[in-house]
Amino acid sequence: MLKRCGRRLLLALAGALLACLLVLTADPPPVPGPAPPQWPGAGGPRAACSRPRFSFQTFIFTDGDDEALARRTGNVVNTNCSAAHSRQALSCKMAVEYDHFIESGRKWFCHVDDDNYVNVRALLRLLAGYPHTQDVYIGKPSLDRPIQATERVSENKMRPVHFWFATGGAGFCISRGLALKMSPWASRGHFMSTAERIRLPDDCTIGYIVEALLGVPLIRSRLFHSHLENLQQVPASELHEQVTLSYGMFESKRNAIHMKGPFSVEADPSRFRSIHCHLYPDTPWCPHSAVF
Ligand SMILES: *[C@@H]1O[C@H](CO)[C@@H](O)[C@H](O)[C@H]1NC(C)=O
Repeated sequence: MLKRCGRRLLLALAGALLACLLVLTADPPPVPGPAPPQWPGAGGPRAACSRPRFSFQTFIFTDGDDEALARRTGNVVNTNCSAAHSRQALSCKMAVEYDHFIESGRKWFCHVDDDNYVNVRALLRLLAGYPHTQDVYIGKPSLDRPIQATERVSENKMRPVHFWFATGGAGFCISRGLALKMSPWASRGHFMSTAERIRLPDDCTIGYIVEALLGVPLIRSRLFHSHLENLQQVPASELHEQVTLSYGMFESKRNAIHMKGPFSVEADPSRFRSIHCHLYPDTPWCPHSAVF
């Protein structure tokens, strides 16, 4: 389970403020080139929404200080976790995300990596179908079967355990109702020790707590996408329905959504800017003459 990102985003959503995040996706395009992928929600000076409203529901979790990012987006949390991609470092970040969500009082905890594009309109449409007070864990499994793990139950006793989990690289959401029930295994450092119990990364640990310990089944959604799948298979005609998209390299080939758009593959290798202009053509930085 490879994860490349040092930053994770947490969207803590509440119905009333949603339009704002949408507007904030209207970020000026990043400078083309081999720069790391930019999540389109990072509000630049031209973003139409005020910074506090954006900060209100999107948090960026980093493993280092980034003043430029903090100035642009307002709500950057340095987790002080290691920048390594070890399962401990990933769980360390997830633990901080979880605690921030609980403190935020928001209705939904949605985790996405910083190589994802989030279509907030589709995300809201999806979440509107579920009550945040009930137990909801929704995302896309990366495996076609439950993961088999070994759970440490005492000092020298292990036992097999199997459960489904939503792959973190595609993003997933948890309702507040469920997040509160996870607290004994997830809050204030417990997440790290729970992850140690099964010796698996952060997203697996979430699945373990929800499915194996709380008995709440994962709701599978085909609307979340990670770079571990063939992204060319997402038809352009169905892009507007997708909640998250991703891009990356697969077997040394570029794996990205296949779509024509106003930006060339060189200028927009992830296709995120082209996708965004396709979905939200009235965004100020989208070329208005573009024909899709
Ligand atoms: C990280 O360390 C800084 C400096 O000690 C501290 O202010 C901050 O609260 C820490 N972050 C977290 C998430 O604990």
